Amino acid sequence: MSEKLFYHELFPNAPRDKIVKKLLEAYADEWIAGYYYQLTAITIQGPNSETIAKHFLEEAEEEINKHSRLIAERLNQLNVDLPRDFSKLMEISGCKYPPIPNDPHDLDGWIIAAIKAEMCAINAYKELYELTHGVDPVTEELAEELLADETKHRTDLTDLLTKEGLKRLEEELGQQK
Ligand SMILES: [Fe+2]
Ligand SMILES: [Fe+2]
Repeated sequence: MSEKLFYHELFPNAPRDKIVKKLLEAYADEWIAGYYYQLTAITIQGPNSETIAKHFLEEAEEEINKHSRLIAERLNQLNVDLPRDFSKLMEISGCKYPPIPNDPHDLDGWIIAAIKAEMCAINAYKELYELTHGVDPVTEELAEELLADETKHRTDLTDLLTKEGLKRLEEELGQQK
């Protein structure tokens, strides 16, 4: 029996194709976020940049070594091949990455980009949770865990902003609405 049949037998009401698409998008997002978080940690300069860099490195580690790995394992269980071409990741990414500042001293700007990335991830996992809720409890549980982690990331990053940075974030988000 193919894995596909197996999945349908276990979770007959789950929209498998939609779930797989979301998982692949998120898999790419996690690698991309991890890449940009490491880039941020290495690039930023100025007072306080060391503390902020440490935080970004820890999050990069979680995006790649925990999140992308857990998603990869779920895709593997669903018998879905991971992209074999790295450039494919940017193509299929659901969130890409927000624009980053040119100025390495613009710490708030780097943090704001990361907060926007986390907000996109939160939305994506909320959607994955809704797609799987009650119909694919294994993926549902994964979505729940990822959603909790990304919500924590967003909060932790927001706490790193200066007072002016917080105002800037509010203004930029206001403009997006
Ligand atoms: Fe993540
Ligand atoms: Fe995150």
